[in-house]
Amino acid sequence: MNNNSVITHLRHVGFAMPQLEEQRAFYSQEWGLIEIAEQDGVYYFAAAGSPEPYVIRLRKDERKRADVIGFGAATRGDIDALAENLKQGGVRIIQAPHELASPGGGYGVRFFDLEGRVIEVSADVAARKHRQLHPGESIPVKLSHCVVNSPNPQETVDWYEKHLGLQVVEALQIHGRKLMWFMRCSHPQHHVFAVGNAPHVAMHHVSFDMRGIDEFLRGVGRLQRSGHELIWGPGRHQTGDNAYGYFSDKAGNTVEYTAGMSDLDDTWEVTEGDLTDPLVLDTWGTSSPWGEHVMKHHFNTPDEGLFIAPPL
Ligand SMILES: [Fe+2]
Repeated sequence: MNNNSVITHLRHVGFAMPQLEEQRAFYSQEWGLIEIAEQDGVYYFAAAGSPEPYVIRLRKDERKRADVIGFGAATRGDIDALAENLKQGGVRIIQAPHELASPGGGYGVRFFDLEGRVIEVSADVAARKHRQLHPGESIPVKLSHCVVNSPNPQETVDWYEKHLGLQVVEALQIHGRKLMWFMRCSHPQHHVFAVGNAPHVAMHHVSFDMRGIDEFLRGVGRLQRSGHELIWGPGRHQTGDNAYGYFSDKAGNTVEYTAGMSDLDDTWEVTEGDLTDPLVLDTWGTSSPWGEHVMKHHFNTPDEGLFIAPPL
């Protein structure tokens, strides 16, 4: 399976919430990101092993919301062509292609998706000076993927296929009811994005790649030792073959440490996993159980910023 989506990778996710100071401390001191800049009340956090200038941005707001999901594209020409296609397709543009003032600059377009999430696609962003992590370092190398909750999941999946060229590689179902759709971009990584069947629009989780399985487990253990609840894990999903450990940030968004996700090859065919098979959730069999408690965290609270452009 090949894909020539305009999207090359996931760049960053932005959150807004009332408890900004607790969030800043969580993402830098606990989760292991590096606070690199503050501009007009927006705080930017990089991952040590990633060339992206930032992978998380935080902003104080009375409303808890996802501010933006940022994807990469290859060239400025791709941004212009995408913007034209979005306009033709009736997508609500927030900002036409323009020079970005955020760390790393670049050229990007911002728009609402079908359900009012804010999406930014950018190119020509300056790479951040990064480094190889050492064996045993239990902090994120880079952003891996994010998953969104949707009460209209099939329509949302169709929207991302039509407008961004993302492609479903695998779905999960239980008793014939589809619960999640995993989507790839032009990069062969199994998924950079997924849509979950949920009662409301919200961020389901944001996932960070660790150096390897050893560093993943050390990270899970480090957070548990410092008192953070491991909501689900440590286990290894059959879908994408990635290890998982889910925690909560200070605003109740779920964040994941992961490692080992597979790349797709040209022979890949779309498959469907059955969640009644315990191997589908966790091939290792080591994880805490999946159930109501996990789903409640993953559903999150309804996003309070739909179809509202963030100030930055
Ligand atoms: Fe994940």
